Amino acid sequence: MIITLDGPSGSGKGTIAKKLSEKMQAWHLDSGLLYRALAFFMNNHPAQAIDIFIAECDVQWISETGETVVYFDKTCLNPYLRTEQVAQLASKIASDCTVREILLHKFRALALVHPNMIADGRDMGSVVFPQADLKCYIDAPVDVRAWRRYQDLLKNDAAIQYDDVFFQIEQRDNRDRNRPCGALCCPDKALVINTTKYSVESAVDYIMSQIQKNITC
Ligand code: C5P
Repeated sequence: MIITLDGPSGSGKGTIAKKLSEKMQAWHLDSGLLYRALAFFMNNHPAQAIDIFIAECDVQWISETGETVVYFDKTCLNPYLRTEQVAQLASKIASDCTVREILLHKFRALALVHPNMIADGRDMGSVVFPQADLKCYIDAPVDVRAWRRYQDLLKNDAAIQYDDVFFQIEQRDNRDRNRPCGALCCPDKALVINTTKYSVESAVDYIMSQIQKNITC
């Protein structure tokens, strides 16, 4: 069973996907983390081939926490991937159709090994898994998403400015929505969830109720 959750940055899809994967004990594929890992790798090893990194990186799911983890050369890359700098690099390389094609094959290969999967990202339901058992589109207005991200970043950086966070989110949205392939959109027949109206818990409960209603395993 494959469930996809797509949506813009800060919509809450990652948190919802993590909780769903914990509750359902289904593999969580955080596809953005792979884009981030690739961007981080390319930034540090500009001469290396992309497909070598993708073929050799090891993607794991930690069932106790619902988290996706990426290793390369036995090193866990996660501690380096959650910065705004890596997010911007990831969003830039994500406009390259060759990069997207390589990652699409990696995502599908992971789903063959882990057929019970919650996949979150920008194009999981629209391009990578269009035949998913349930497709969701998780959304919220840009000011709400920027405010959430600002509150989050404020915990570690008292000097962070809301306007800067807003600008970065808007910039990433524009790039993600307007690229030539795998552009962020609401997939066909997706369940639309606006997280200004739903808490994480109620969104998870709602999606689980739709899974029970629509899917017979
Ligand atoms: O979801 P996250 O913020 O970690 O993703 C980082 C970047 O990776 C996004 O801004 C987007 O450009 C890219 N991405 C993508 N397609 C996906 C997942 C992420 O283009 N399926």
